[in-house]
Amino acid sequence: MIDQFNRDINYLRVSVTDRCNLRCVYCLPEFSKDFIDESKLLTIDEYFRLIRILGNLGIKKVRITGGEPLVRRGIPGLIKSINNLENIEETAMTTNGILLEKYLDELAENGLSSLNISLDILDEKKYNYITRGGELEKVVRSIEKAIEYKIKIKLNSVIIDDFNKNDIKSLVDFAVDKNIDIRFIELMPIGCGQNLKGVSNEEILEIISKDRKTAEMNSSGTISGPAAYHKIEGTNTRIGFISPLSSCFCETCNRIRITSEGKLKQCLYYDSKLDLMKMLRTETSDKKLMEEIKNEIYFKNKQHNFTGSPEDKEKEKEKNTMSVIGG
Ligand code: GTP
Ligand code: 5AD
Ligand code: SF4
Repeated sequence: MIDQFNRDINYLRVSVTDRCNLRCVYCLPEFSKDFIDESKLLTIDEYFRLIRILGNLGIKKVRITGGEPLVRRGIPGLIKSINNLENIEETAMTTNGILLEKYLDELAENGLSSLNISLDILDEKKYNYITRGGELEKVVRSIEKAIEYKIKIKLNSVIIDDFNKNDIKSLVDFAVDKNIDIRFIELMPIGCGQNLKGVSNEEILEIISKDRKTAEMNSSGTISGPAAYHKIEGTNTRIGFISPLSSCFCETCNRIRITSEGKLKQCLYYDSKLDLMKMLRTETSDKKLMEEIKNEIYFKNKQHNFTGSPEDKEKEKEKNTMSVIGG
């Protein structure tokens, strides 16, 4: 699928639930977040139908996200079905890793190709604080087990000023020790992220460069995500930088999203317009769904407006957090 700016849209992110078993300080509020009623989430069969249709339209990679995808029943089965689709080359998942250990056998058997695991800090107490109750040892065990299964893993870290800036070195050391990649994601002003101060990826690279030699890599040629990668010399570990604010990557954006409310979302920033759930539940044919989706994708916005004026931002009314959108 080619959009109006000649971008090839081949990567679909699917949020299967807005629920999460953690409440990271930059994502969900400590109290009073009303989760979407189960009847207002797409069913597993509905997700599968949409993914099949989107596979026929040119999607090659599907990433399952949440909230936390593993709090929803039926996800390993969905992975299996997606993997059996002829046009899908890669099935991935983004998870906080808490429940992962329990599901890894099934996920590996069902053909999950890669896992992005959130990990912002390696100090047990601080991890518990930042996630509001998470147990670090569960995540570390999940990571170690996933490595044994030879599933491709990347760590996702969000750095918050005055909180985990001093932990960047230990996160990188951990990734090197485990022989896996780590990405630093610039804090985006979405949900609770609006009230905190992030650290620019430029500064993070400076900090890492104090004790590691890194070299920028060329990441073209893959169905890649938004990260720019640097290789750490003398290791197999790559450091990725996801910098939507300081270095906008919209020009090469290849993705669309299905939110946990069953809407097609063209861009993380803009409101969703196409209500797929409504269409699915009013017996819309595959042909009609394909037409509507193709049309919507063609008009994908040029770029986000996270750094725009408050008046402009006010126009996008959807007050969704990352957990509804799926990151
Ligand atoms: P791969 O590169 O395929 O591994 O995936 P990814 O990095 O896109 O996936 P992941 O779910 O791990 O996302 C990491 C971070 O990137 C999250 O904070 C997402 O919100 C952010 N992200 C992913 N896609 C976009 C995008 O299109 N725009 C912006 N601004 N952020 C994105
Ligand atoms: N800004 C940047 N990243 C965020 N995430 C959640 N909320 C935000 C935010 N406001 C990250 C999580 C997870 C990924 C899917 O999105 O840490 O790794
Ligand atoms: Fe849950 Fe991810 Fe949000 Fe943390 S960032 S509360 S793990 S959805």
